[in-house]
Amino acid sequence: MCGIVGYVGTQEATSILINGLERLEYRGYDSAGIATVTRGELHCVRAQGKLFNLRQKLETEVNPSQIGIAHTRWATHGVPAEHNAHPHRDMYNRVAVVQNGIIENYQEIKAELINQGYQFTSETDTEVIPQLLSSYLPAKPQGDDFLIAVQKTVNRLQGAFALGILCVDYSDEIIIVRHQAPLVIGFGQGEFFCASDVTAIVPHTSTVLYLENGEIARLTPIGVELYDFELKRLRRFPRNLDLTHVSVDKDGFKHFMLKEIHEQPTVVQSCLDHYLKNEAEDNPICLNLDPQIYTNTQQIMILACGTSWHAGLVGKYLLEQLAGIPTSVQYASEYRYAPSPILPNTLTIGVTQSGETADTLAALSMEKQRYLNLSREGKFKILGITSRPESSLAQVVEQIINTHGGIEIGVASTKSFIAQLMSFYLLALDFASRRGTLSREKINNIVKGLRQLPGQIEEIIREQNRTIEAIAHQFSETQDFIFIGRGINFPIALEGALKLKEISYIHAEGYPAGEMKHGPIALLDAKVPVVAIAVPGEVHDKVLSNAQEAKARDARLIGVSSLDDRVALSVFDDILSVPMVDELLSPILTVIPLQLLAYHIAAIKGLDVDQPRNLAKSVTVE
Ligand code: M6R
Repeated sequence: MCGIVGYVGTQEATSILINGLERLEYRGYDSAGIATVTRGELHCVRAQGKLFNLRQKLETEVNPSQIGIAHTRWATHGVPAEHNAHPHRDMYNRVAVVQNGIIENYQEIKAELINQGYQFTSETDTEVIPQLLSSYLPAKPQGDDFLIAVQKTVNRLQGAFALGILCVDYSDEIIIVRHQAPLVIGFGQGEFFCASDVTAIVPHTSTVLYLENGEIARLTPIGVELYDFELKRLRRFPRNLDLTHVSVDKDGFKHFMLKEIHEQPTVVQSCLDHYLKNEAEDNPICLNLDPQIYTNTQQIMILACGTSWHAGLVGKYLLEQLAGIPTSVQYASEYRYAPSPILPNTLTIGVTQSGETADTLAALSMEKQRYLNLSREGKFKILGITSRPESSLAQVVEQIINTHGGIEIGVASTKSFIAQLMSFYLLALDFASRRGTLSREKINNIVKGLRQLPGQIEEIIREQNRTIEAIAHQFSETQDFIFIGRGINFPIALEGALKLKEISYIHAEGYPAGEMKHGPIALLDAKVPVVAIAVPGEVHDKVLSNAQEAKARDARLIGVSSLDDRVALSVFDDILSVPMVDELLSPILTVIPLQLLAYHIAAIKGLDVDQPRNLAKSVTVE
């Protein structure tokens, strides 16, 4: 949430910063702004709304500079308006700050500063930072005064935050701070970059250093100095990134979401290539997890938010049904304030595409601490599933399964969901193989099915995209949708509904099909279409009966089903077709037409598919 970029070096800073913001805009797009030090003065240009508005303003407000910080905002405190846009400055125009995060004790600091005569111009929590910092700066600062003032300020702040700071008296220095919100430094030749996400830096360098919590860095054209919050000097070295998957271009697609839907066969294939060995081996899965995970785990707890939580629900089904391990799935945002009693020998799994979701990280950290306090009572392990192994998640968990989903830009998750599902299939099979809960023959059959998935996803996209677009035209005015599924496809009903809500702003609910008659069926009439996931398998007939019950209430029925399924054909008004597949593997296929349906409805309505209102890609605040 919110994106920060900074540059210091020998090139013109503004265009570098604006291009960086463009690559971070998925983190928030309520307003954008930039601050530079030009001819000994601090210049700040800000605009409400998307980056486009800031670009336009900058055409007439030119401030050439070789240093600057910039920000794209997802509003937390204060409406999306220019006066609340970052960078924020102190009342003397000496200090500019960009922030990603929340300052929890800002009211208290603000009251104190107002008492001292400081005047505020925004409703944000961020504005207290430059004002407080300014109060710690001597009239004529020199040497380390700026750094010391930053340290004093940071030690007063409570919350989770990442900061980029400029001071007019230090025209070749940016100071950045990380406290539970991501920041990465990029190393060039005589120039340095910083950003909330490496995507903003990769056009310039692949040599990076991820700040850790509790670190301050000073960036100048001659180098980077690293400190802790006591200003003790730290020494860590940058590393080279593998940039293979860092692409932030639409590659000819109209939207990132559509491109990412099309990338799903490759994502599945890449996951298989990384983690599947020859079927002739004793265990065809090689996740290379700590062996204690396999021997000690008696139950699993999955912590996640949003789409990742839906992936966790599919994971629960697989881990329980294939590997026989009792598994619970918790919303991280709820769990952190009402944790379950601790059980020894639990494997906790955090699932997060970005690896930066504040609630998921906080719940995992809390769990780690709880287990450490009780360590003598049993063993525990904490595992992360993410497509961003370099993210903050790595600082919280002991081991990561890299989903190899690559960077996702569209705010609505698509390929990262598929990648998370694949990780759960492989994890469940790995456990099943090592614990002998499934026969070798059964495991080999499932693996064979997994290997067919890339081709089958490709087939759905190739054969169904146009049909789904045509169906979507009929629903651009629809107000409410219901999605139903059972068993392993119940989470897909939830995911289908979430996709539609997020990008088309149509109210949609996902329900277990059998629950409809316990209340939600009262919602149904001819104006509420029902999407039912009915693939051959154990619950096929049950879902079709539930769909019939909806039809009897005049609901228009859309089935996610196979065109070879004659019974389904006779029940549904429209079919979003998927190939015949084992029910166990079906979620990887059934979710694809639902992504396409949501995409086309939103595109037909002319909505901003990649940057839907009120949302941001990385939810780095609580
Ligand atoms: O990065 P994460 O996977 O932790 O994000 C969790 C949710 O914020 C995310 O899945 C959100 O629900 C997506 N916008 C769904 O499309």
